[in-house]
Amino acid sequence: MILGIETSCDETSAALLEHDGSVRVNLIASQIERHQPFGGVVPEIASREHLQHLFPLIERALEGAGATWSDVDSISVTAGPGLIGALLVGVAGAQGLAYGLGIPLVPVNHLEGHIYSPFLQKEGAAAALPPRFLSLVISGGHSAIYDVRGNDVRQINRTRDDAIGETFDKVAKFIGLPYPGGPQIEKHGRGGNIDRKRFPFIVPRFREESLDFSYSGLKAGAIRLARQHDIRVDGDAAAVADFCATFQDALVAQLFDRLDSVWKRIDEPKPTEVAIAGGVAANGVIRERIRAWGEERGVLVRLPEKIYCTDNAAMIAFAGLQKGNGGDPRRVTARSRVA
Ligand code: KG4
Ligand code: ZN
Repeated sequence: MILGIETSCDETSAALLEHDGSVRVNLIASQIERHQPFGGVVPEIASREHLQHLFPLIERALEGAGATWSDVDSISVTAGPGLIGALLVGVAGAQGLAYGLGIPLVPVNHLEGHIYSPFLQKEGAAAALPPRFLSLVISGGHSAIYDVRGNDVRQINRTRDDAIGETFDKVAKFIGLPYPGGPQIEKHGRGGNIDRKRFPFIVPRFREESLDFSYSGLKAGAIRLARQHDIRVDGDAAAVADFCATFQDALVAQLFDRLDSVWKRIDEPKPTEVAIAGGVAANGVIRERIRAWGEERGVLVRLPEKIYCTDNAAMIAFAGLQKGNGGDPRRVTARSRVA
């Protein structure tokens, strides 16, 4: 089995994966409650929490799989991008374990973890990867579209400023909703009406021909509109619902606007599958829209199980599997940014 370790942000996670991609155990210790009083992730708290929870979690994972160390033949660890202090806990821990056990260590790019996550199944072996697929990684730290052929991952676009999840979080915080804000906006918007007259969000465009996302304008616009209409979670519930529904619709509109442009631009033969991944891929509205988008174009849509949307070690072990054998654990380094 492969031991996966993830500590790049605010979830400590350890998983055991079979070589066919079956997830034997995937444990996640979320730190959300520790960061909630601050309305976002505090890096130093994240590192300390990882340090405290990582090894007990790995031991529980082994117990849960009824396995011993001799069943583990390699380790995959998130080496970046992420919070450097948080990454170091996972990387140093994985290095020590791999070196001590005399097994290889595979450094994994966190984004590649998300990219392959839609192929993990709730039960049994992972789904077969198609020769080529398009992947939308939408999370708290990233918004980008990738063209993926096997383990050749090419980034097509990215956000110029804020990530989509970050935008959900910051606007939610402004109107008094707890962190993380994405699920909160979705929940509060459920009964609301999309009202672009009252809340005139616009999908931004760049002057030059660009496929990039940009969410900071929507964030600033949302904060201005919330102030203007006195939108507060403890205020008029109907107004909050309409605001959340309209704001969410604007974020999603930009996502699909760019996806359409990417799809038009991409060379033939087009990919046969499109996948979404990352924390924001848990969003029900986005899941519905992408299903419809795929149906219209005859493209198979891969939606990750909700448990594999947020940061988890099963996806890190699975990405490690795509990367091959790994090597000397002493050669692995944590990097907060990955080129
Ligand atoms: O992938 P993730 O766990 O961490 C990063 O690598 O960033 O993503 C967390 C992000 C947060 O911004 C959170 O608000 C967002 O995912 N999120 C959602 C939903 N569930 C989580 N955003 C919109 N709708 C949701 N249902
Ligand atoms: Zn992530």
